[in-house]
Amino acid sequence: MLGALGTSLVAALVEDQGTFWLPRQASDMAGRVDASFRLVYWVSVFFFALITFLLVFFVVRFRERKGYEQQPASEHNTPLEVFWSVIPTLIVIGLFWSGYRAYMGMTVAPQNTYEVLVTGQKWNWQFTYPNGYVDAQLHVPVDTAIKLTMSSQDVIHSFFAPDFRVKRDVIPGRYTQVWFTPRSTGEHDIFCTEYCGTNHSSMLSKLVVHRRADFDAWLEDASDFLARMPPAEAGHMLYNVRGCKQCHSVDGTGGIGPTLAGLYGKREVLVGGQAVEVEENYLRRSILEPQGEVVAGFDPVMPTYQGRLKDEEITAIIEYIKTLNP
Ligand code: CUA
Repeated sequence: MLGALGTSLVAALVEDQGTFWLPRQASDMAGRVDASFRLVYWVSVFFFALITFLLVFFVVRFRERKGYEQQPASEHNTPLEVFWSVIPTLIVIGLFWSGYRAYMGMTVAPQNTYEVLVTGQKWNWQFTYPNGYVDAQLHVPVDTAIKLTMSSQDVIHSFFAPDFRVKRDVIPGRYTQVWFTPRSTGEHDIFCTEYCGTNHSSMLSKLVVHRRADFDAWLEDASDFLARMPPAEAGHMLYNVRGCKQCHSVDGTGGIGPTLAGLYGKREVLVGGQAVEVEENYLRRSILEPQGEVVAGFDPVMPTYQGRLKDEEITAIIEYIKTLNP
């Protein structure tokens, strides 16, 4: 009875939550990566147990007894030496082969993938879909080979989706790629797994797997936000998904950049001493050339949005900022 309960509990964990050691398997690749891990793990467990046992056994068995006289040590044993050289060599080759197969499988993408562009920047992820729409979450259709072409705006980040066993560095000035095939619908975590500065630990996102038809509907609906929403609302959405919120609060609290609360119409003193009134054109310049007129007390760390936000989107963000005045 207890045994059966245990077995079904383990089965449920394996299916939905993963095991104690590993997260759930959401892609084809996960099985191969886990098999490789388990091989290394059990080989290590076996030798750990064997060596520890022999160590203790020899210490007890050959301890110094009364009347002990030193014997000449034997120098050489060819069969033994061949045995302990050949066996580990074969084991290491086996480990390499298992890892190499899994690695090549996840490196070389098949033809006809659905491609999403990934941009890492301090400290958020942006996913650009084939129709040009940009979202802060990665949405993909199920049972489709997905290829991610990734690059960074600033420093080295690392894209990590543990349920899919997908992890690769995202590097400025270069493209890196990963691919995977999601096997069931659901929501999964995305992490940045390379320390990239102050807010590294909040550089998180979600990977949402839809049914094929739902995915097309989602993309069509999401892409249409400028036509569908009033500008301030679209601006609020852009604030959330395009990386503004990582540095600019909307409640007056401090951050990497000035808070947006009560910003519109304010007089700000810039680095260098001159004052500026925050109006539409200053906000626009600050989005396109953020290093140009930095508010005193802040570092010039904001990346430019030149070419990355459309004019309507900048307008929407400015309209949103105006709504944050009391
Ligand atoms: Cu990006 Cu850590």
